[in-house]
Amino acid sequence: MSERRIAVLHGVNLNMLGLRDPAHYGTLTLSELEAAIAESAAEVGVNTEFFQTNHEGAYVERLQLARGRADGLILNPGAWTHYSWAIRDALELTELPAVEVHLSDINAREEFRRTSVIADLCVGTVAGRGAEGYADALALLARHLQETAA
Ligand code: DQA
Repeated sequence: MSERRIAVLHGVNLNMLGLRDPAHYGTLTLSELEAAIAESAAEVGVNTEFFQTNHEGAYVERLQLARGRADGLILNPGAWTHYSWAIRDALELTELPAVEVHLSDINAREEFRRTSVIADLCVGTVAGRGAEGYADALALLARHLQETAA
C-alpha cells in the first residue's frame, strides 16, 4: 500500500508561534513545529503536507481540496475551533478521518475555549500536549487508517 497522505492544516494566528505565550504554546516557530511533525510522520510511515492561513475562507477551500487528495486530516484551526460553523461544514464534506489538535489545554483556559464545533466530527482530540500532541495525533490517525483499511 502506498503511504497515506495526511494534510496538517493550521489556522488563524498559528503563523505567530514562537511569539505567542510560551506557557500555552511553547517556544517552537511554525516551521520548527512542522519539521518536528514531518519527523514523527516518517516514524509512523505517513506523508504530511502543511498549510496555514489567517483567512477562514482559505481554510474552508483547503478543506474542500483535501477531499480526494488526502487520506486523513490533522486540524488545529486556532480560535476558529470555537465558533466556525463554516469550517465544521467543510470538514464534514471532506468525509475524511480527522484528529483535532491544540497545543494548549483548551479545557483548562477561558470558558469560550471549552467549546469545539469540530470535536464530534473528529476521530480524536489531543490538547495540552504541546508539539508532542501532533505526534500523538499522527499515531492515532495512522492506527485509525490501518483499522479501517479495506
Ligand atoms: C489553540 C487554542 C485556541 O483556543 C487558540 O485560539 C489558538 C491555538 C491551541 O493550539 O492551543 O490560537 O488552537
